[in-house]
Amino acid sequence: MNRFQFCVPTDIRFGEGQVACLPEELAKYGKNVLLVYGGGSIKRNGIYDTIRTLLKDFHVCELSGIEPNPKLSSVRKGVALCREHDVDVILAVGGGSCIDASKHIACSVCYDGDPWDLVKDRSKMTKALPVAVVLTICATGSEMNSGAVITNEETNEKLEINGPILYPVLSVCDPTYLYTLPERQTASGTVDIMSHVMEQYFQKNDGAYLTDRLSESVLKTCIHYAPIAMEKPDDYEARSNLMWASTIGLNHLLTVGKGGAWSCHPIEHELSAFYDITHGVGLAIVTPAWMRAVLSEQTEARFAMFARNVWDVTEADDRKAAQLGIEKTAAFFRSLGMPSTLKEVGIGREKFEQMAAEAVRTSGIAARSYVPLDQAAIVKLFESCAE
Ligand code: NZQ
Ligand code: ZN
Repeated sequence: MNRFQFCVPTDIRFGEGQVACLPEELAKYGKNVLLVYGGGSIKRNGIYDTIRTLLKDFHVCELSGIEPNPKLSSVRKGVALCREHDVDVILAVGGGSCIDASKHIACSVCYDGDPWDLVKDRSKMTKALPVAVVLTICATGSEMNSGAVITNEETNEKLEINGPILYPVLSVCDPTYLYTLPERQTASGTVDIMSHVMEQYFQKNDGAYLTDRLSESVLKTCIHYAPIAMEKPDDYEARSNLMWASTIGLNHLLTVGKGGAWSCHPIEHELSAFYDITHGVGLAIVTPAWMRAVLSEQTEARFAMFARNVWDVTEADDRKAAQLGIEKTAAFFRSLGMPSTLKEVGIGREKFEQMAAEAVRTSGIAARSYVPLDQAAIVKLFESCAE
């Protein structure tokens, strides 16, 4: 096991009705609140009304219309609102997109230049307003981590900022808020959770036995409960297990004692930067292709362990077991209604070279990932799932 620091300061309030804590918790930071939300789902399902009633004694200004794959222009709008209304605390109500936009706004308010500068030079990110969260879709883990991913629509770059000042101070996770999720969002959210766990699981370091077993449990939880939530959207047990899986899937717990750069995420971020596809959908296409591409004599033992412990494969031969595990992963994503080729989401070959070059330029995939992939290898991977 590698040395590690584990310090996650987010106060999690999990369970039905926990939103009631908002007035008392937000009042700790002040009375001026920026409420950040998306395209209107919270108005249709009543969460908006609940929150506005709870915050009746606060001065609330709103930033609505945060896009899935949130844009830099939304961050700039949020910064202007915070300055105009002297905002004390930001409340993100939604999923990764609203939370990430809120985190980026929070640290950009405390910086004099343009918010994109913070992506290019993280040393400029020194302070942030507090961000609180009411989670309405489980996928990214942003509710309990220090990352925020923003798309610069002028340059087609989708990049992350990350740092301890970006942890939400509070996250309300009420599984009943997931009941209105469309099937496709439940499915793509599940793929995202599983991808986070697999990105951390497939790393070079051995000896983090406990971390690997925890990871396998989170994966098995997704495999067990996602079909139940798809079948019965208001199944509390399924929704609550998936919600907690998303949070611990990317709150650093599953990376302790390990390390290395990720593979499928930098590749997928290019797809969603250039084609604005849903993050989990892109991952459902890329992940099995990546697994097939990196399976080798060096990696087959870990893939066989994954197959046996996650998918209950009983095959004794490592290579065959590994292949079975990969095909079961692909079949599971298909069973959730996810596509398996780029063609199905309208992506052709025209930008393969450019996206592969960008993935290499903007991440550690060519140097520090489980199996380093250069531009040519990523183009080959795109080809393998093209159609
Ligand atoms: O915008 P509204 O109308 O609210 O609809 C949203 C949106 O269309 C809808 N939705 C959310 N909760 C709902 C609901 N519809 C009905 N009922 C509800 N309860 O779902 C759609 C997707 O929402 P979004 O926030 O975009 O989803 P997600 O949580 O998957 O976030 C995706 C973004 O997070 C980034 C992704 O790249 C993407 O930009 N990521 C952030 C990470 C992080 N900060 O740690 C890590 C991830 O790997 C990821 O990159
Ligand atoms: Zn993700």
